[in-house]
Amino acid sequence: MKVEVTEAASVDDIIAVRAAVLRPGRPVSAARYPEDGGEWALHLRADVDGQVVGCGSLYRADYQGEEAQRIRGMAVLAGFRAAGVGSLVLAALQERAMERGFGHLIWLNARERAIPFYERAGFAGVGGIFEVPGIGPHRLMVFKW
Ligand SMILES: CC(C)(COP(=O)(O)OP(=O)(O)OC[C@H]1O[C@@H](n2cnc3c(N)ncnc32)[C@H](O)[C@@H]1OP(=O)(O)O)[C@@H](O)C(=O)NCCC(=O)NCCS
Repeated sequence: MKVEVTEAASVDDIIAVRAAVLRPGRPVSAARYPEDGGEWALHLRADVDGQVVGCGSLYRADYQGEEAQRIRGMAVLAGFRAAGVGSLVLAALQERAMERGFGHLIWLNARERAIPFYERAGFAGVGGIFEVPGIGPHRLMVFKW
């Protein structure tokens, strides 16, 4: 399977995948985040045969009062999971974050099921598991360089 990870022209290119994976059964608009409209929002798309199958987004977002970046909306369509697509997107987001240089830390709220996926990419958990209403258990994770 040939996977190509590139920057999406806009959130509109990836919103269908984000919505299908992260907000199933809800209107596509429910998958839009307020940060998507921000000046430093960056969206990556993973394509297989010209079809978007995965995505992830990077934002400028302070962490404990310090300049930092945040990842949201990591998603890979069910039929394409566990084949390395998500890891490619995550690695590319980490690379972009380090190039942009807004601080030296990325944070994210990981779904419990995805914690090992982020640990393999160098993220470390901070604090305990907390519940995001309507979505499930999460843990704050950070990556520093
Ligand atoms: C998490 C996710 C983006 C990873 O993408 P991927 O292409 O499957 O990832 P990779 O193939 O690079 O790595 C596989 C790892 O992803 C994680 N993973 C696999 N299926 C998953 C699922 N349904 N939900 C969450 N994580 C999953 C596991 O840690 C897996 O490792 P394992 O095979 O050792 O258990 C993708 O599985 C997904 O979209 N899951 C559902 C939505 C989600 O949980 N998103 C993250 C929100 S924080």
